[in-house]
Amino acid sequence: MSTGDGFKEKTANSGKTAKPLRGDYSAMRDDFTIDQGWSHYSAEEHDRWRRLYERQSRLLPRYAAPEYMDCLSRLDAGDGIPDFERASAKLRQATGWEIVAVPGLIPEDAFFGHLASRRFPVTNWIRTEAELDYLEEPDVFHDFFGHVPLLMHPVFADYMEAYGKGGLRAMKLGTMDQLARLYWYTVEFGLIRDGDNGLKVYGAGILSSAGETPYSIEDSSPNRVAFDLERVMRTLYRIDDYQETYFVIDSYDQLFTETQQDFGPIYERLKGQPAIAADAVLPTDRIYTRGTGARKLGKSQAAE
Ligand code: PHE
Ligand code: CO
Repeated sequence: MSTGDGFKEKTANSGKTAKPLRGDYSAMRDDFTIDQGWSHYSAEEHDRWRRLYERQSRLLPRYAAPEYMDCLSRLDAGDGIPDFERASAKLRQATGWEIVAVPGLIPEDAFFGHLASRRFPVTNWIRTEAELDYLEEPDVFHDFFGHVPLLMHPVFADYMEAYGKGGLRAMKLGTMDQLARLYWYTVEFGLIRDGDNGLKVYGAGILSSAGETPYSIEDSSPNRVAFDLERVMRTLYRIDDYQETYFVIDSYDQLFTETQQDFGPIYERLKGQPAIAADAVLPTDRIYTRGTGARKLGKSQAAE
């Protein structure tokens, strides 16, 4: 989906969550997991999954990172809403990860605890027919289709575990805003350079969105800037529209290696620095494309 689908911004700034969450939180265990209830999905829900899956499958060969495409096909999840047990068996074999069902967004400490133990929480319900193009909370299509494939990738799998541990630490240090931006601009909205083939998508928020997939790669509106850890940690983001800036990594190894350093001194340094606007380009940026900002301009004119 295009917007607002990360769990972090809702829990970190939970006062901003406009509506009550829709999942069934009544049967939750202490760790916020539930049974997926795979046998309870209706034929219509499985059909909705297939249509979402097919639409993205037509788009993604042009836009998605080849590693993602490879992992997606290994999951063999196009026939209907996947059974989490079956997917977990494949994940365990590939990287030791598994997925657990949750009713939707869960508290930050619980989410990070799962990641730190190589468990990825996946929402068990699917969006309604009216929400095929847009929804405000992550559903099973976003969580599974967007996030689960790259958990089969050894380096990305290690990055996600490290992020979970880093999240627990950032909560204690009071630096969640900074760390959440890293998640947003990598796990949710990251782009990667694919040799001579140009930029490709690896972020889950893009991969599960039919609109943002081509926009993130081809549209003239957003900036595309080389990944820089501290720059990313200072950059505000949009939760209500497509991103105004995407950050481009060279490889998953780069992402993993650069985030292995102790963030303590970085957090200290960042305390004295103002945040950077979501659409800003800095003199120090290594720019792939400088955006026109036309999307936002068009919107504000239309609103006048
Ligand atoms: N190195 C980070 C720290 O010291 C932990 C981390 C790793 C955070 C990878 C995010 C991603 O806190
Ligand atoms: Co997400």
